[in-house]
Amino acid sequence: MQGELGQKSHRAVSDAALDRLLPPETQLPSELHAAMRYACLSPGKRLRPAFVLGSCEAVGCDVSRAHDAAAAVEMVHCFSLIHDDLPALDDDDLRRGIPTVHKAFGEAVAILAGDALFALAFETVARYEPATLARDLVLELTRATGSEGLVAGEALDILVEGRPVDLDTVRWIHERKTGALIAASCAMGGLIGNASPPTVDALRSFGMAIGLAFQVQDDILNETSTPEQLGKAAGSDRARGKATYPGLFGLERARDFATELHQRALAILDEIGHCASLRGLARESVVRSA
Ligand code: IPE
Ligand code: IPE
Ligand code: MG
Ligand code: MG
Repeated sequence: MQGELGQKSHRAVSDAALDRLLPPETQLPSELHAAMRYACLSPGKRLRPAFVLGSCEAVGCDVSRAHDAAAAVEMVHCFSLIHDDLPALDDDDLRRGIPTVHKAFGEAVAILAGDALFALAFETVARYEPATLARDLVLELTRATGSEGLVAGEALDILVEGRPVDLDTVRWIHERKTGALIAASCAMGGLIGNASPPTVDALRSFGMAIGLAFQVQDDILNETSTPEQLGKAAGSDRARGKATYPGLFGLERARDFATELHQRALAILDEIGHCASLRGLARESVVRSA
């Protein structure tokens, strides 16, 4: 990240919070806790925690207040990756350059580790004080992840596999499966920083635009990169008949759309003001090769 938080610090901060909040492997059932740690502490980009921290910083708050929320959104993200990779969904063997959780620990432990991460994420934000902030954070995260958010997007992604889709459907899926959690991450940083409702709304809109751009770029990379570069499968979207922007539009128009969304996201930041970290993160989300 090019902004003030710095690439190393956002990762270090998120991983320290995850390490503190995740149950130790020595606690029974150790296999379950080992799988949760394997999923969360493996070498991913930690972009969603960075969006929480960057948004908190953008509204002038001490970012240490946002450390636990940053860990919570990464837990939700890792839950979604574990379940997304299962044989019943995308059936992938590689994630973050290492075997997927079900490959390393078996399907039963993988499903349960995802369930446990989801619960721990909500417990983590429910502990915020004052209680009104905890309630707002829980609501933000539940709306983004449940049957109107990430889970809805994942459901339709699977249900339309191999079927012709229109642009509105692809957008509907992408906004939910990926945009919603990034939007919530930004809004949560604002809520923790006690930002005004219009600023929280602006942060959420910024997150949705950049989250959609992030997924468009992910679809482009699935077509143009190798598993070695990505640390996960490549070419799999076309093979499975996934609903994607490059699939519908071709690569060039998909790239133009990602650029347009990036510009739209930056324009929203102009309303908020001091956002160097978020600008850097926005760029990292779209101009990336892994
Ligand atoms: C992967 O997200 C899943 C999508 C929404 C495309 P990331 O690319 O942020 O995954 P990690 O956390 O870096 O592994
Ligand atoms: C990722 O969807 C979104 C979630 C896991 C919620 P994809 O299936 O498109 O992403 P990758 O390619 O597995 O990372
Ligand atoms: Mg998927
Ligand atoms: Mg997948």
